[in-house]
Amino acid sequence: MAFSFIQITDHHLRASETDPVRGVMTTYTLAATLRHIARHAAAHADFMVSLGDLVDPPSEAAYRAVMERLAIQNTATSVAPGPLTISGEGLRDFPIYFLPGNHDDRHDFFRVLFPGIAPMPLLNARFEYQGVQFICLDWGTDATSVAYPETLAFLADALQTDLPSVILTHHQVVPVGARWLDAFIAPGLARFWEIVRGKRVIGVLAGHVHLTHEQLVQGIPVLTLRSTAFQFARTETPTIVLEPPHYRFVTIHNGVLTSRIFEVPLA
Ligand SMILES: [Fe+2]
Repeated sequence: MAFSFIQITDHHLRASETDPVRGVMTTYTLAATLRHIARHAAAHADFMVSLGDLVDPPSEAAYRAVMERLAIQNTATSVAPGPLTISGEGLRDFPIYFLPGNHDDRHDFFRVLFPGIAPMPLLNARFEYQGVQFICLDWGTDATSVAYPETLAFLADALQTDLPSVILTHHQVVPVGARWLDAFIAPGLARFWEIVRGKRVIGVLAGHVHLTHEQLVQGIPVLTLRSTAFQFARTETPTIVLEPPHYRFVTIHNGVLTSRIFEVPLA
């Protein structure tokens, strides 16, 4: 049994689509990414996951503008993290799950995207798809992750299962080789790896670092991804580089997770 899905992350959208973020027109670069997905990948994938920083800076008006611009549909009964649906740029009612990032205001995020449920301070949630459990973990609204006891407890509880599990998180859980980015990992996240040890976790997907990084930890693929907006270099101090967005096409086959990166030409 196999299925595929697509990972995108860190959209940093503004209420106005012509308002740049760090010199990048983020609405344009996301639209280019979605167009590329529609042309090359969507027909072979069942859904998308967006791993946070939907807007920057957050406001209810920004979320409402983004929902309208991306034709994101929800229903009053939608549960977080979804699926909602997204249309436009060649996509039509494509299922998409949204996790919040550190730039997302939890209250406004829930009010606009998931009006049928009460806002939560942290979006720790799980869903199943074709016999695979997806565990969504929330480390908060600071650039530096916070090892919240409730997030760690949620993880430990969710892993009491025989199902293979994929962990989705905005903040990274391993260093990526850039000192200033790696300083964003909470010391308490060592506990994350203790909880995961020996469990049937087949992949960890993250955002936040705005660069693509892949490594095996405890035999588990741990994968971060370039933003759909601006990218960071793997440097000691913050450096933004001119690199095009990535998205990740992920396939799970017989409990094994593999993926490939698509680069989105912006010219
Ligand atoms: Fe980000």
